[in-house]
Amino acid sequence: MYSQGLMGVEETPGGEQDLLDRFQARIDAGEKIEPNDEMPEAYRKTLIRQMSQHAHSEIVGVYPEANWVTRAPTLRRKLQAMAKIQDEFGHGLYIYSAAETLGVSREEMVGQLLSGKAKYSSVFNYPTLNWADLAVIGWLGDGAAIMNQIPLCRCSYGPYARAMVLVCKEESFHQRQGYEAMVALMNGSPEQKAMGQDAVNRWWWPIMMMFGPHDADSPNTETGVKWKIKNFTNDELRQKFIKATVPQAKLIGIEIPDPDLRFNEETGDWEHGEIDWDEFWSVVKGQGPCNHDRITARRKAHAEGAWVLEAAQAYAAKQAARNAA
Ligand SMILES: [Fe+2]
Ligand SMILES: [Fe+2]
Repeated sequence: MYSQGLMGVEETPGGEQDLLDRFQARIDAGEKIEPNDEMPEAYRKTLIRQMSQHAHSEIVGVYPEANWVTRAPTLRRKLQAMAKIQDEFGHGLYIYSAAETLGVSREEMVGQLLSGKAKYSSVFNYPTLNWADLAVIGWLGDGAAIMNQIPLCRCSYGPYARAMVLVCKEESFHQRQGYEAMVALMNGSPEQKAMGQDAVNRWWWPIMMMFGPHDADSPNTETGVKWKIKNFTNDELRQKFIKATVPQAKLIGIEIPDPDLRFNEETGDWEHGEIDWDEFWSVVKGQGPCNHDRITARRKAHAEGAWVLEAAQAYAAKQAARNAA
């Protein structure tokens, strides 16, 4: 579902100034960088880290939703949830494939996820307690993902940018189906309205954290922007999200659980309450309410699906042998 403002840009060793200058000139001219092009090692590494985190997030992101497919209130909602989950797995596969063009294998990336070395978006380490959580994840979680991902369609790395075009179209459906489910709840009984508000109360802050630390605390943002890996800073994206979300919340009678949220007429920005960064970092470091469950579920799925991979490899080997004969 998302990349998060965690990616760093590593130092490029000295003696490569010419390469850096040539590369920057291509970026500044708006050219796309393709897999076999010359690129600074730091650019390649930064992209591998960002894209693998992104792909992992797409895959792990379905776990909070999976529990509610069999409990969806109607057949239509169940179909929506299943379609969305299928999309998210597809996004993961696209992005793993795009990352492989940088010289890292999918096995290596998946291995890093399973060992706990690689990160994925912190938001998926929170529990989904009832159906309203699914509506809120679509409306706000995928809504935040769209803010992060639309600029990636213009990212300087060609395979990533092209993969994101389809991903964003599907994310738009995810956001709409979530909002539609939310509208239904908010037009329902007092109990349903309370469920909707309660889910927003629990998810608002984890979703605000999805954009990553404030710009002042995100020293790598500058290089990411310079190389057009990122086209907006974390705070700019958070701001866009609040701007888009506040009127939608108002329309359906949802109160944003932030007493300090207010529009500043002079700056044209929304000011918001302090984000609990201690909570954010503790979740990123593995101490969130569901980190353990998510990784355990992922490891179990990997182990239980091993026979599929083996069968596919055996089949491919048999086909290759036949073709050779
Ligand atoms: Fe996605
Ligand atoms: Fe999505």
